[in-house]
Amino acid sequence: MAYTVPKLEDYSDESLQKSSNEVLSALDSEITTFVQEAPQLTPIERTNRKRIVHDTWLARKNGILTQINELWLKAAPPDKKRAVGSVVNKIGAHARVQLDELQKLQFLEKNTLRSEGLDITLPGIRRPLGAEHPVIKTMNEIVSVFRTMGYSVADGPEIETDYYNFESLNFPPNHPARDTQDTIFISGQEKKQQRDRLLLRTHTSPVQIHTMEKYPPPIRVVVPGKVHRADTADATHSPIFHQVEGLAVDTNITFCDLKGTLDHAMKALFGSSVKTRFYPSFFPFTEPSADVQITCFKCGGQGCRLCKMSGWIELLGCGMVDPNVFNFVESNGYDAEKVSGFAFGMGVERITMLKYGIDDIQLFYQGDVRFLEQFA
Ligand code: PHE
Repeated sequence: MAYTVPKLEDYSDESLQKSSNEVLSALDSEITTFVQEAPQLTPIERTNRKRIVHDTWLARKNGILTQINELWLKAAPPDKKRAVGSVVNKIGAHARVQLDELQKLQFLEKNTLRSEGLDITLPGIRRPLGAEHPVIKTMNEIVSVFRTMGYSVADGPEIETDYYNFESLNFPPNHPARDTQDTIFISGQEKKQQRDRLLLRTHTSPVQIHTMEKYPPPIRVVVPGKVHRADTADATHSPIFHQVEGLAVDTNITFCDLKGTLDHAMKALFGSSVKTRFYPSFFPFTEPSADVQITCFKCGGQGCRLCKMSGWIELLGCGMVDPNVFNFVESNGYDAEKVSGFAFGMGVERITMLKYGIDDIQLFYQGDVRFLEQFA
């Protein structure tokens, strides 16, 4: 409770003594409370509180000492002035000393070693540095192989329209080739035209079209990215995985350029003794199309479990850009009569698994540090 200066009822010695004790104990308890609370306060709060206590007692206009002077001394009958004066002086002197001490009080700050009980000889907390995920690491490696050959890097959206994922890549509406892509469509779009419907891209090939819409020929570009398919997770499938797409368009690009480029890339990724072969395949957006196989790096082509006794491992899809694809971007300088090009697309997880002998794709997504730190 804040102290209020009472009027003196009578001026007897006992009454004066009693009133004087009350003032001094009010001051005491105010200082004690402050000292108790000070450690929890910030230095600024502490300075403010000190000023408030100081002013409560010593402010010239309305401080407690001024009030005592008014209510006790000035109001005292002439014959009591002396006695009251001496009591008031004593109170004043005592209060000034106490409040002076209070201003000088220093408190240990929270970082203070002793108050924290901080033991600086304890070993520190280790914060291990993270490392590249093996899939990202391989993806970067693939990209850098192509960057050294002068390719640029591009990316595109994971949510695509039917137009970019299928139509402009020469998948006609209702063509059975769409079925092989296990597409995840976004629901509730029945009212939209088919070409505008949204889906999660099933491959990075739509970025071929985005890139050709943006840049006229010649172009050489690689596109790392995430793709989605309605696949049930098992040791070799994951509904989300990564691809690196490639596209080169110029005048006079031939299948020879495609073979040379990919043969070089596979040797850079798997070692110079690896051989490649191009096996006929089909993609709507390339003609002719091929699957690239490399000699099994485990058995060197003899035949083993990894290559299913064939001596060859299938790695990626590729082919010469179908003229129908150029027709979709003709207005940006892609005249199918004048330019030609090749494209390729590879699954990053699959390449990583082959490179490191990993037999379960799910290991990439489980976040098990014991697995991941092997690649750090
Ligand atoms: N987009 C194809 C797939 O996901 C791969 C591919 C890319 C094939 C480019 C040919 C050319 O299967």
